[in-house]
Amino acid sequence: MRVEMRHIYKSFGPVRALQDVSLTVEAGTIHGLLGENGAGKTTLMKILSGYLRPDRGEILLNGEPVRFASPADGLRYGIGMLHQDPLDFPTMSVLDNFMMGCENGFWLDRQRARRALQELARLFGFDLDPEARVDRMTVGERQQLELLRLLRQGIRVLILDEPTTGISAPQRAQLFDTLRRLAREGKTVIFVTHKLEEIEELCHRVTVLRQGRLAGEAAPPYSPRRLIEMMFGRSLSKPERRPALPGEPVLQIQNLIAGDYRLRLGRVNLTVRSGEIIGLAGMEGSGQHLLMRVCAGLIRPWEGCICVRGRDLTGKPYCAFLDAGVLFVPANRLEEGLISGLTLTEHFQLVYPTGGYLINWERARAEAQRRIQEFNIRGEPETMVEALSGGNQQRAMLALIRKPVHLLLLEHPTRGLDVESSMWIWQQLKEQAQQGAALMVISSDLQELLEYCDRIIVFFGGQVSEPMNAEELTTDQLAQMIAGYGWRG
Ligand SMILES: Nc1ncnc2c1ncn2[C@@H]1O[C@H](COP(=O)(O)OP(=O)(O)OP(=O)(O)O)[C@@H](O)[C@H]1O
Ligand SMILES: [Mg+2]
Repeated sequence: MRVEMRHIYKSFGPVRALQDVSLTVEAGTIHGLLGENGAGKTTLMKILSGYLRPDRGEILLNGEPVRFASPADGLRYGIGMLHQDPLDFPTMSVLDNFMMGCENGFWLDRQRARRALQELARLFGFDLDPEARVDRMTVGERQQLELLRLLRQGIRVLILDEPTTGISAPQRAQLFDTLRRLAREGKTVIFVTHKLEEIEELCHRVTVLRQGRLAGEAAPPYSPRRLIEMMFGRSLSKPERRPALPGEPVLQIQNLIAGDYRLRLGRVNLTVRSGEIIGLAGMEGSGQHLLMRVCAGLIRPWEGCICVRGRDLTGKPYCAFLDAGVLFVPANRLEEGLISGLTLTEHFQLVYPTGGYLINWERARAEAQRRIQEFNIRGEPETMVEALSGGNQQRAMLALIRKPVHLLLLEHPTRGLDVESSMWIWQQLKEQAQQGAALMVISSDLQELLEYCDRIIVFFGGQVSEPMNAEELTTDQLAQMIAGYGWRG
């Protein structure tokens, strides 16, 4: 199906999210949609899939004008969207989620749905247990499930909104194979990203948005410099690498064993010093998140001990970790990091209260305004956090870091962020390190880890490598270890 969007406009109150944006996607191709954080990519795709209605402009499918009143309408025309934040029902099973919106009428045929699920999963080489609960699966698996659900509904146009931000390199390769195959079968794929490599690797054509406007289009061979200029209106240069000057030990882990219902992590022995940034690499679910949560005081270890600045915190509650200056910034921005339904001012108020018993809202608002500026958040003090773009939510989480912080634990701090924002975030993290904090960072972007971290540890099936000097490692070596090569036993 050929998709055309013509002269689309969309505003949210005073925010002009899209202005006169047009997009044409040929059937059977993979079309990239590139743009920095807040450029309007998600908004444009929500309009195409019926989640939002444009203020002006039209949509044509195979040359015919159409109007969608809801996502169900979009689906009826064969347009399905995989959202930036998973839109599934976490507490329900894979099968229940799969059946959502698929079955007609009152009576559901679970057996038939189960067979359909298994058949589709086999076809694409996905390994999904129909009875598993969705909140226990990785983001990659949840994506696979949603993809199968959409395919069962007979979609002809598949929109993916930054699908690679939460998944590991092998899962990404598998996803790309799947997309190429869907395109060969005649489906139209629209791939939203801000990563240039992905455009080069996957897309037959790309449209670039900048601040709600069309910045240009390109076809292979792509020029990365030209694409960056289109995205940001100028070219960017990388900062220099400065060696860390590690100080006193901040975090000491000895003989630690921890686990959950499906993974045993350990034994871990690790010392992280003040001023140091440690990168944690591994496929989703290899133990890195578990270790992070143990260090944050959210999960108690089975054995071993954790000391922060010489204080033994083993078995202590989360608030003891907070008091010791341990801070955890989770990957799941809207589920764990921020509180949906509260404004930016209210968030800052929770961390930095103004006034005693009564909140001084005028001061709170002024404080919020100051932090919004300092952290470059595109939003107003009254903006609800869920209305911020992904990148701006990440900035808001960093703005909420309470000082002094001695141990800063971050999961995917640049997930979903464009090049410029990522560089900005890393600059902030480096500053924290220079001021004496010890940092541990999980990222699925290996290049980023090598570039910004001092040492890297790799996780594989609950095993943990020795810390390795980042400067002596290559992306290939790292990728091999993550995939399980070179491990003893
Ligand atoms: N529901 C909403 N209410 C108010 N403003 C919104 C809403 N949705 C989006 N916006 C604003 O519209 C602009 C475009 O946002 P959009 O989410 O489309 O950006 P994006 O290109 O997808 O960014 P990212 O890469 O960070 O996901 C942003 O300034 C955002 O804050
Ligand atoms: Mg988006």
